[in-house]
Parts: sequence; C-alpha cells; structure tokens
Amino acid sequence: MKAEINGIQMGFEIIGGMGLPIVLIHGFGLNRSIWKAMAENYLSEHTVILPDLRGHGESQAPTGAYSMDVLADDLSALLDFLNYEKAVICGHSMGGYVTLAFAEKFPKRLSGLGLITTHAAADSEAKQKDRYQMVEAVRENGAVVLAESLAPKLTKDDSIRRQSHQILAGTDPAGIIGAIMGMAERPARMDLLPEIEVPTLVVAGNEDQIIEVEIARQMADSLPQGRFLLIEDSGHMPMIEAPKALGEGLSWLLSKVKADKV
Ligand code: MLT
Repeated sequence: MKAEINGIQMGFEIIGGMGLPIVLIHGFGLNRSIWKAMAENYLSEHTVILPDLRGHGESQAPTGAYSMDVLADDLSALLDFLNYEKAVICGHSMGGYVTLAFAEKFPKRLSGLGLITTHAAADSEAKQKDRYQMVEAVRENGAVVLAESLAPKLTKDDSIRRQSHQILAGTDPAGIIGAIMGMAERPARMDLLPEIEVPTLVVAGNEDQIIEVEIARQMADSLPQGRFLLIEDSGHMPMIEAPKALGEGLSWLLSKVKADKV
C-alpha cells in the first residue's frame, strides 16, 4: 500500500488488523520485509504497521539529508493517514533513532516503545568521518558498497547475510545517502530516556557486532518502565535470527500496554 504524506509516497503494509496498533521500523538500508515473517507468526492478533522509511523499500527517495526528526514526522503523518491517535512504536537500529525522535516530538502519540538492537548516543567524530566516506563511496559506486560493508556485520548466519545483502544492494543510493547524513547529524537522546513513561522493551543480541549489550542494558535501566531482553544466539537482526524470542518479547510489551490502559 502507499500513502501520500509529507510530499512523498510512502510504502507500508498492515498485518493482522484487530488489536492494538504497533509500528515496526526497519534499520538503515533495509526495508519492511525484514519484519514480515515474525509479525505474521507471532503478532498477527494485533495491528502490525510496517512502514518503509523514506528512501527505503517502496517509499520515495528524495535527495538531501533525512534527519531522524523528518523520519519521525513521516511516521506521525502515516498514523494520521491510518486514523490512529496512538501506537506502540518499535525501531530496529536506525529505526530506534527514529523511534526516540518520535518519542521526543510526539510523546502523546506513544502508548509503548520498543528499542531493538539500537542505542541513544550521537555519533563520535570518528563514526561521522566513516559515514561521510561511505556517502562518497556510495555516490561513486552505488549501494553495493554499503551492502559489502554492512551485511557481514549484521549476522553470522549465511542465508540471513545474503538476504540482507540483497536488500541493502537494492536500496536507492539517494535513500542511503539521505539516511547516512541524517544519522551523522542526529543528537544524543540519552537524557530523554528517564522521561519516557510508557512501557518499554529494550532488546539486545548477545552476538551483535554493532551494539554492545551493556549499552542496551544501561538504556533499559534509565527508562522508568524499561524491561531488558537479551536474546541468545542473535546478532543485529533478531527479527530474522530469533523471531520467536523477539515476537514473544513484543507480545509481552503489547500486553503491558493493554494492562496500563485498563
Ligand atoms: C542500522 O543497522 O540501522 C545501522 O547500523 C545503524 C547505524 O549505522 O548507526
């Protein structure tokens, strides 16, 4: 499905369609397909909204930087389009940065929060430098450069690596560049965490090569209603590497949100 929002066509789909709305936001260079099997198998009694962030999947990829705030505005506009006042918002990696921007901008629209293999810090100078080098490399040689560099870090499972590589290599270079620039410029949001009052699940993979487990644990400790879930035998992609464990974690989050409302 497509929604016309904030000057772009945004691709999305809905799985289930009866219970509480939950939005699952993919990470950098990926798209909504990463969630599909997990959502169908473990969350279909809820209303699972899977957007493609601008520049990714079936969404349009305008040129220029995509700040995390702009990506959060797109999600808020998608909720308007679908007539949902509030939703549980969950983000994977860069999707987590967008989730935190959403929590800061639209706290009243948030009924629960999921932070999946992500963190709340800003980029170091070294990380920013790497990002700008990647922008140049993608400009010159296309999305495959990102796929070659990122896919091996996402998981040690060969078939999930191949699947991720294929998605990354197929992403519009303008979308990759827009997202990289937005991530490089994003602010730290650690100070926001103690202010987030809704039930929150923080998920880490014990084999994640990108996000340290301890950082995720500290985030959960800073959140008033934070629960930490460590998933064994998973790297950066628990929605595909360990769908049952993540699906059960998200079901717990939804039950907590429901209980909160009663
Ligand atoms: C992601 O998986 O979304 C990215 O690795 C996040 C990042 O580059 O900071």
